[in-house]
Amino acid sequence: MEVVVQKTPAEMSAAAAREVANVLNAKPNAVLGMATGSTPLGLYQELVRLHKKGELDFSHVTTFNLDEYVGLPITHPQSYHHFMHEHLFRHINIPPQNIHIPSGTTTNYRAFCEWYEQRIKQCGGIDLQILGIGTDGHVGFNEPGSSLSSRTRLKTLARQTIDDNARFFKNRDEVPIYAITMGVGTVLEAGEIVLLANGKKKAAAIAAAVEGPVTSMITASALQLHPSTRVYVDEEAASQLKMREYFDWVQEKKPGAPPA
Ligand code: PGA
Repeated sequence: MEVVVQKTPAEMSAAAAREVANVLNAKPNAVLGMATGSTPLGLYQELVRLHKKGELDFSHVTTFNLDEYVGLPITHPQSYHHFMHEHLFRHINIPPQNIHIPSGTTTNYRAFCEWYEQRIKQCGGIDLQILGIGTDGHVGFNEPGSSLSSRTRLKTLARQTIDDNARFFKNRDEVPIYAITMGVGTVLEAGEIVLLANGKKKAAAIAAAVEGPVTSMITASALQLHPSTRVYVDEEAASQLKMREYFDWVQEKKPGAPPA
């Protein structure tokens, strides 16, 4: 894991956007894994800005979103379908047929989950997966206790996640209890992973994910088993990292390293 600490959430987003841009420049038909929530908003704004400047082309890109709430129609303002269209897809030139978001309204979840996994494989696998992290250490909606080899499936949300996400709904009772999410095993198959976190509320989860033991109690800790994960955090989210000095040292010395 490489940990990159940026001063502000805006710098964190810009650094992550550069990483996405590098992937798309090297492979214009790359497959991106997308995340929702407040954390990647700045990254998406930056991708839209680069696209509008003519520096990023999405015409051959394919995307797979991590998760979706069960029971919300795609038009619901809090559905992740709506979120992605509102904050990214309607502003860029990605062909609609290249967009994949788990269905929260299918009548057959098992079949849908199997199809989603197959579709990722058919498209050649995910080149770069973008992730946020929950205060309970989840990635996607892989709540504590999720198998670290899990695949796309239905999950019951943890109370903590429902509480955290209640801020987006009129009241807590409106937050869905179930979600469909890529599994930890699905995420770990991505070629590269970028995990983003900002704010004090994420500091404990980041410290546990990066420096704690690999455990299903913090599903983001499974990323320690992934060969190419970069963690972009702001100062607040980095505030509980014990290895902070080393992480900064690595970034400082990186330009002088021999080509890998
Ligand atoms: P947030 O959610 O970006 O809204 O904090 C992150 C997550 O739950 O993965």
